[in-house]
Amino acid sequence: MVKFNIYRWDVPSENEGTNYRVQSYDINLKECGPMVLDALIKIKNEQDPTLTFRRSCREGICGSCAMNINGTNTLACLKKIDADRDCKIYPLPHMYVIRDLVTDLTNFYNQYRSIKPWLITNEQNKGTEFREHYQSIEDRKKLDGLYECILCACCSTSCPSYWWNPDKYLGPAILLQAYRWIADSRDQNKKERLKALEDPFKLYRCHTIMNCTKTCPKHLNPAKVIAQIKKEIVTYRE
Ligand code: SF4
Ligand code: F3S
Ligand code: FES
Repeated sequence: MVKFNIYRWDVPSENEGTNYRVQSYDINLKECGPMVLDALIKIKNEQDPTLTFRRSCREGICGSCAMNINGTNTLACLKKIDADRDCKIYPLPHMYVIRDLVTDLTNFYNQYRSIKPWLITNEQNKGTEFREHYQSIEDRKKLDGLYECILCACCSTSCPSYWWNPDKYLGPAILLQAYRWIADSRDQNKKERLKALEDPFKLYRCHTIMNCTKTCPKHLNPAKVIAQIKKEIVTYRE
């Protein structure tokens, strides 16, 4: 048996104080799949249908099941249950909670929108041509380590700089996504993209704390990407 201690919270109804609590559920591992998400689904199906969390793909592709498990931000569907200890599950840190393990990602997605996450070409700017955009094998390789990001927000919500300035600092996830377009040989907006990031808060709040790289469940390296953006900003200035 493993005990799952799970953060619970819902908007309080009138006359009710805060109803934050940690609720415990016991799971027999012989009757459960191997991952933390399996346990959450089992609890919801068999013990408590009110338990609320996001999930979709159950294979590390959609990014929906990001949460804090035993002190680390990760994906519940990729995290194996540790049979030797209780499992503590909390929402992603320093985020507004909508209910239980579901956090409000509105600010995160607005920041994503702000970096224009789509291909921009001169032809499109003029509104003239629509065509295929070819890319060499070497140029395509430059997107490795970037395109795999599933926008789960584990990295940004592990970053103290993002905790302190979530409204102004873009955070590691969005900066990695921004660089995904800067590095794309087909995009013709590189200078404008770099210029848009040259800001004391948007980019330079990164103080190389490295939590982002340590926690990324897809084994990406946002800290290195942020350093690369800083370097390219210097180059484009010259
Ligand atoms: Fe998630 Fe990693 Fe992308 Fe950050 S860089 S959003 S942790 S996949
Ligand atoms: Fe934060 Fe990562 Fe920079 S943890 S401060 S974004 S290196
Ligand atoms: Fe899609 Fe976990 S359910 S990443």
